[in-house]
Amino acid sequence: MPIKWDPRFSVDNVAIDIEHKLLLSLLNALEVVLRNPHEKDSLRFFIDQLHESAKDHFRHEENLQLRYMFPYYEENKKGHDVLMVELDVIRDEIYKFIEKPDTSQEEADRMSKKINHVLRDWLVEHILKSDIKMKGFMNDAR
Ligand SMILES: [Fe+2]
Repeated sequence: MPIKWDPRFSVDNVAIDIEHKLLLSLLNALEVVLRNPHEKDSLRFFIDQLHESAKDHFRHEENLQLRYMFPYYEENKKGHDVLMVELDVIRDEIYKFIEKPDTSQEEADRMSKKINHVLRDWLVEHILKSDIKMKGFMNDAR
C-alpha cells in the first residue's frame, strides 16, 4: 500500500511540505519498482532520486532551522544523519542487486520488505514526531 499524503504531515511551510510529498512519492515508486526485479534502470533511477532528494531536503531543513533558531535543531539533525546512513546502506544493497546477472523475485521481495520497514517507518515517524515541531517556527520561509 502506498503511503498517502495526510494533512497531519503538514508543518505549515509550503516548501517543506512539497519536499516531504516528493520523498513519499519517491519511496512509493521505489516500492512498486522493487516488485519487478527486472526493472533495473528504474530501480537505479528511483533509489538515486530518493537519496539525492533526501540529502537536499535535509540540508534545506537544517538551514531553515538554524535561520529561525528552531530549538530542536540538534535532535532533528541527528535523525537526518541516521537516515542518511540507512539510505547509504540500502543504496549499496540495491546497486549490488542491480549488478547481479540473475536476480530472483525472492531477493527483490526481501529488499522491498526491508525498505518498507526502515524507510517507511522512519520517514513517516520523522515527519510526524520531529519535523512537526517546526510548525509555527518558519511559516512560509523558503
Ligand atoms: Fe523533513
